[in-house]
Amino acid sequence: MKDIEHIVVFTGAGISAESGLSTFRDNGGLWDKYDVYEIASPQGWTHNPELVLRFYNERLQSLLRAKPNAAHYAIASLEECFKVSVVTQNVDDLHERAGSLNVIHLHGELRKARSTVDPNLEYPMKETGIRMGELCEKGSQLRPGVVWFGEAVRNFEQACTAVESADIFLVVGTSLAVYPAASLVDMARGSAGKYIINPELTNKPREYEWIKAKAAEGVPALVKEWKQKNKKKIIK
Ligand code: OAD
Repeated sequence: MKDIEHIVVFTGAGISAESGLSTFRDNGGLWDKYDVYEIASPQGWTHNPELVLRFYNERLQSLLRAKPNAAHYAIASLEECFKVSVVTQNVDDLHERAGSLNVIHLHGELRKARSTVDPNLEYPMKETGIRMGELCEKGSQLRPGVVWFGEAVRNFEQACTAVESADIFLVVGTSLAVYPAASLVDMARGSAGKYIINPELTNKPREYEWIKAKAAEGVPALVKEWKQKNKKKIIK
């Protein structure tokens, strides 16, 4: 393997599964239990905002109870040795709580509330969530600071720039079903080391080494390997 300078880690709901947060498309996942368009689209919000707020307020309570797991911590620890960028589809803050400093959120953040008239007006989410009638400073209802289907993904250019400069691109816990996020797997350089950690995957992209493991086991093992290789390089 050539020298590693920049590691980019791309994560999905599976990395937080062992922290107790539900994924979307696994059996019993969130989109089995709820209609995605009722919960996660501008039309659903217009139709029944109370239902949408209840869903995200419940998810916020689960997030407040959850803790980062060994995979989040291992990724954060990479920063001791390498330049690291984390690109996540997750709306949780477990990467940040584990200590990762450079986290790019593509689908927004559950711990932020935002205005319904001005997407740039964001506020820290109260631990009790958002209630109907809570307004932004321009007088419009607050909504969760997450991206819904039909809305533009956040920070995508920044994510592409990071992936294009990666020496290693590690993909963890995503079904690669949602675009444009999933297209990042095609943007890593030919020379980059490419790895996927996921116990089950039906659409493995070519060129990727698939490690069939859960995140909390597979990620720390790989991180250990990279750190050991880096140590040997420094000693030489
Ligand atoms: P999915 O629910 O689509 O996929 C979760 C993936 O995690 C699956 O491939 C599982 O095999 C894998 N998985 C489950 N447990 C795991 C574990 N312990 N360790 C590692 N992998 C595990 O979630 P995402 O791919 O993140 O978007 O979904 C992408 C987007 O779809 C989400 O950001 C969300 C959703 O609709 C929006 O809400 C806009």
